[in-house]
Amino acid sequence: MRLQATGLEAGYGAVPALHGVSVSVEQGEIVAIVGRNGVGKTTLIKALMGLLPATSGSVRLGGNDVTRWPPSRRVRAGLRAVYQERAVFSELTVRDNLRLNGLDASAQADVLEMFPDSLIGRDQQRAGTLSGGEQKMLASGCALRAGASILVMDEPTEGLQPSNVDLLGKHLSQARDDGLGVILVEQHLALATSLATRFVVLEKGEVVASGHADEPDIHERIATHLVI
Ligand SMILES: Nc1ncnc2c1ncn2[C@@H]1O[C@H](COP(=O)(O)OP(=O)(O)OP(=O)(O)O)[C@@H](O)[C@H]1O
Ligand SMILES: [Mg+2]
Repeated sequence: MRLQATGLEAGYGAVPALHGVSVSVEQGEIVAIVGRNGVGKTTLIKALMGLLPATSGSVRLGGNDVTRWPPSRRVRAGLRAVYQERAVFSELTVRDNLRLNGLDASAQADVLEMFPDSLIGRDQQRAGTLSGGEQKMLASGCALRAGASILVMDEPTEGLQPSNVDLLGKHLSQARDDGLGVILVEQHLALATSLATRFVVLEKGEVVASGHADEPDIHERIATHLVI
């Protein structure tokens, strides 16, 4: 399955934030989306999921044009997200978050074991009272075990200590090798560089650079766009 956005435009009220963005990801690859604060990364994730309507352009998932599909229908078709804000159901317990993601008992245990120091023994705690980093780990774990074909992740390492960034990296590369396709919005360039097959750089709502990880000058080209 492939997720393909073509000429995507979306914004807030009359203010456009994406100006014709085209990105794609296949199962079995990780595509990193990088760019400075406010360039439209989160807007792109929301438009891919259908939380924000596309004012122009299209989103295709597998053989379907899903541009007008609501988020729930996209999720049923195999697309999942980890959002930058409000990544978990904060009023529910950790256990109920796991259940609500459709995970059976063994998958629930797997998620807790993905980040054992942070999540094991926390299942009766209200998810909103986990720390920011712990909420991100719970959301990433749920999304990784929910059986999606394509996952879009908006800064999943925000608030994670280095050892947990490394753990998430391991889980992501394993999931990619098992056939998951990932669009990864990531400020943590070392992680993006170690995982991604392709890079897309956004600036002011537009793709200003893109390339494959094995191009010799790719890291310099990315860095040029990220320096202030
Ligand atoms: N709810 C909103 N209402 C109005 N404007 C918004 C809203 N959310 C974002 N914007 C604007 O859209 C633009 C893109 O924001 P977006 O959140 O997509 O950036 P980002 O690349 O994810 O930034 P960050 O790295 O800080 O997460 C910014 O100019 C921002 O001010
Ligand atoms: Mg953002």
